[in-house]
This record gives sequence, C-alpha cells and structure tokens, in this order.
Amino acid sequence: MFILVIKITSHIYPIQIKLNFIKQYYYLSLIITVRKKIIAGNWKMHKTQAEALEFLSVLKLNLANTTEKADIVLCVPFTLLSLLSKSLHGGNIHLGAQNIHWANEGAFTGEISGSMLVDLNANYVIVGHSERRQYFGETDKIVNEKVIAAQYHKIKPILCVGETKKQRDAGEVEKVIVKQLEQSLVNVDQGNLVIAYEPIWAIGTGETCNVLEANRIIGIIREQVTNKGITIQYGGSVTPKNISEIMTQPNIDGVLVGGASLNPLSFSEIINY
Ligand code: PGA
Repeated sequence: MFILVIKITSHIYPIQIKLNFIKQYYYLSLIITVRKKIIAGNWKMHKTQAEALEFLSVLKLNLANTTEKADIVLCVPFTLLSLLSKSLHGGNIHLGAQNIHWANEGAFTGEISGSMLVDLNANYVIVGHSERRQYFGETDKIVNEKVIAAQYHKIKPILCVGETKKQRDAGEVEKVIVKQLEQSLVNVDQGNLVIAYEPIWAIGTGETCNVLEANRIIGIIREQVTNKGITIQYGGSVTPKNISEIMTQPNIDGVLVGGASLNPLSFSEIINY
C-alpha cells in the first residue's frame, strides 16, 4: 500500500512516500523543488506619472482574462513608487524599485533607503544591474551590502550578474559569474533572493543570448548557490518573439525585461507567453 503525503511549504514541495511492506514501514523522502517563475519589468529611467497610469490601465485590460503563469513585478523609478503602490494595491502585480542604499539613513544626498522603500510598499528591488555597475561604480562589495540591506527590510533583491562581450570572447564567462556570485552572496539569506543572469552585451542591443547558452549559464549559477529553489531569471533583449523559447528552458525561471516592458502590449504578450 502506498500513502502519498504532499506537504506544500512555500515554493518547495517535499514529498514523502510511506511504504507499508510486510508490517514494516519504509520511508522514502524525496525533495522535489518547484521554483517560482517571475516576470519582471525594469523601466529604468522612463515614464512620468501620467505615462505610468496610462500604461497600467492598458496592461490591466490586457491581463483581465488571463491565468497567470508567473508572478509579475514592475521595477519603476523612485518617483513612481508612491503612485503605483496605490494603483497596484490589492492586485496581482508586485512593485519593485531599481536601487537601494546600504545604510538605513544618513548623510547620503540623493540616495533612497530600505525603510523608505518599505514605506512605499516596494516588495522587490533590482541590485547590481550592469548599468549601475558601469555608470555608478557599483562593485561586488557594494552590491553585497545592498542585497543585505534589502533583505534586512524584507524586500526581495533581484541580484543581477553577467559578463561583458570582451569577457565572453576571452572565454571568461564562468569565471566572471562565479566571482560575482561569491562576492555578492557573502552573508546573504538565499531564502529571500532572486538572481538574474543578464549578459551585458545582450542588454538593450536586440542581441539575445542563445537560449541554450543562457540555460547553461543559469545551470552554472544554480550550482553556485546552496538554495536550489532560488528563482533565476534571464535578462537581455527579451521580447514577445523570443519569450516562449526562453521559458521552455528548464533552468530559466523567468525574465527581467527592459525595453519591452515599457509598452503595455508587448509586456502583456511576454506575461502571457
Ligand atoms: P533589455 O534590458 O530588455 O532592454 O535588454 C534588460 C535589463 O536591462 O534588465
């Protein structure tokens, strides 16, 4: 006789199979991990309040009769957080920011702290995006401190890693990614984390990474983390055209979308992949 007990805890599904065999019980425990899929938009430095409201009304219409295959997150500029936290309240679209300071408060002109993001109901924050690393000097150490700050405030960080074209051409992809992860994950709670693999040469260029290659690198990222249930996204020129192929890859748990998340029609097509 088989008794199958399925307990659902968060997004990890431990399955215990109890075998009754000649009056003896043999317990066989299997852990099957079902990872959460997340589709996130990164608006970067785009949209006024009026444009954001217009976007939302069209997006909501387009998503009205669809069954969600993934959690949806919109990572918007700081100036839109307050407005969108009201418009998204009670709905199924989560709110995210694009940056966080490592300190809780202090003399850091122009910066935004975790408690300020909590105040505006941001549940997610992008950390270590290549544009922040490239234009604002963010190192792996700073990224690590920001990830820890986000987690301290119970905001889920979306940690971005990825290589440049030069590093890829030099055969250094694995080395670069492993180093970024090692340095960014020091003292990080892997139970409250999303990782996005974003090859820098694929961001905003229309040159998507080959899906098999993206799947391979994400597999390498998963080998580096202790929590195998972490959602790992792909990012870099994701469009309605390539989304279904990307989402069929076994290691890829979602996408981080820049340009195509600015248009409610293309973003809803991506969500409905
Ligand atoms: P993209 O941007 O989709 O425009 O390439 C992705 C990102 O920067 O996260």
